[in-house]
Amino acid sequence: MRAKLFRMPPDRPTEEDIQQAGDIIRQGGLVAFPTETVYGLGGNALDPEASEKIYAAKGRPSDNPLIVHIARMSDLEKIAGSIPSEARLLAQRYWPGPLTMIFPKTDIVPYATTGGLDTVAVRFPSHPVASALILAAGGFVAAPSANLSGRPSPTRAAHVIEDLGDRIDAIIDGGDADIGLESTIVDFSSEVPAVLRPGYISLEDLKALIPSVRMDPGLIPEQSGIRPKAPGMKYRHYAPKGSLTVVEGEKEQVIAAINRLTKEAEEAGKSCAVLCASETAAFYRGRVYTLGSRQKEEEIAASLFAVLRQLDEDGIEVIYSEAFSDGSIGPAIMNRLLKAAGHRVLQV
Ligand code: TXA
Ligand code: MG
Repeated sequence: MRAKLFRMPPDRPTEEDIQQAGDIIRQGGLVAFPTETVYGLGGNALDPEASEKIYAAKGRPSDNPLIVHIARMSDLEKIAGSIPSEARLLAQRYWPGPLTMIFPKTDIVPYATTGGLDTVAVRFPSHPVASALILAAGGFVAAPSANLSGRPSPTRAAHVIEDLGDRIDAIIDGGDADIGLESTIVDFSSEVPAVLRPGYISLEDLKALIPSVRMDPGLIPEQSGIRPKAPGMKYRHYAPKGSLTVVEGEKEQVIAAINRLTKEAEEAGKSCAVLCASETAAFYRGRVYTLGSRQKEEEIAASLFAVLRQLDEDGIEVIYSEAFSDGSIGPAIMNRLLKAAGHRVLQV
C-alpha cells in the first residue's frame, strides 16, 4: 500500500497526525478520513488540480460534482452565493451533522470541484476527526465517498484500503462510521427545496422545519423516466458482483419465496445468499447475512455497505434480500438497496 496510514480514536484526533494529514491536502494531495456517515476522500476544494486527482483516484466521471466540507459556520458564505432563510434553519438544527445543502456557488469554488455546475454542495460533518482535518487543511475539503466509483461507500478504513490504498497519499483510520449511509442532500438552488438523496435525516424531519420541501421527482421509482437532479444518483452504484433481487410482500410470503428461489438457484449450481433482519434470520436456509434488527433500523443502515462488500469477498452469485422500507431511515436504506439491486424487485 502506498498510502500513509494514521490511526486515531474517533473522539480524540491526534493533533500531530492531523497536522501532517492537513499539510498533505494543502500541498495538493489526497487524504481519506472518517465522517459520521461514510469515509470521505479529501482534497483541497479550492484547487482544481486536487479535484481532478480525486476523480482520477476514484475512477469517477468528472461531470459528477463533489461535496465541499466545511468546519466553521462562517465559511459557508465564502462558497455559497445566496442562502435562503430555510437553509439557515436547517443549518441551525442539523449542522454539524449528516446533511448536505446545495446553493449557487461563489467564484472561489472551481468548476472542477462542481463538475461544471454553477451550484455547490456543502456539508459540515460532526465527526471530530473530520472537523479537525478540515481546519488543518485550510477549511474547504472536497470529499466524495472514499470508494472506487460504483462500489459501496466505505464505512471503515479497511474498505478504503481495499479500494484506494495504492491510489492516494494517506488514510486516517478513525474506526467504523456511525451512520453508514451518505448524508441527506437538500437542493436550495431552485424554487422549491428538494431532497436529492435520502439519508439519516428524513423527509419528515426536514418538513417539520421547512414544510415546502419535497422529494426530487427523479428519485421516485414510479417516475423513473425523470432524471434525478444529483448527477451521482443516475449512475449504477453499490452493486455486488452477484445478481441481487429485493423481495417485497407479507413476511411469510417473502420467507417462502426466498427459500424457494435460493433452493432453485443452488440446484442450478450457484452460490446463494439471503440478506435479512435478525428477526427472520432463523427462517432461512443456506447462507444468511443478518443486517440487524427491524427494531433498530440504525443497525441495518450501519451494516448494509459492509455486507454488500462481504458478498463479493465470499464469491456469492445470487442474492435475495428482504425489503427495509419502514421507519424514518427506511427510505434511505431502500434507496441504496434498490440501486445495489439495479431496481430488480419481486413482489410476492
Ligand atoms: O455523507 C456524505 O455526503 C459523504 C461524506 C464523505 O461526506 N460524501 C458523499 O459524496 O457521499 P459523494 O460524492 O459520494 O456523493 C455526492 C452526491 C453525488 O450524487 C453528486 O452528484 C451530488 O452529491 N452532488 C454534489 N454536488 C452537487 C450539485 N452541485 N448539484 C447536484 N448534486 C450534487
Ligand atoms: Mg459516493
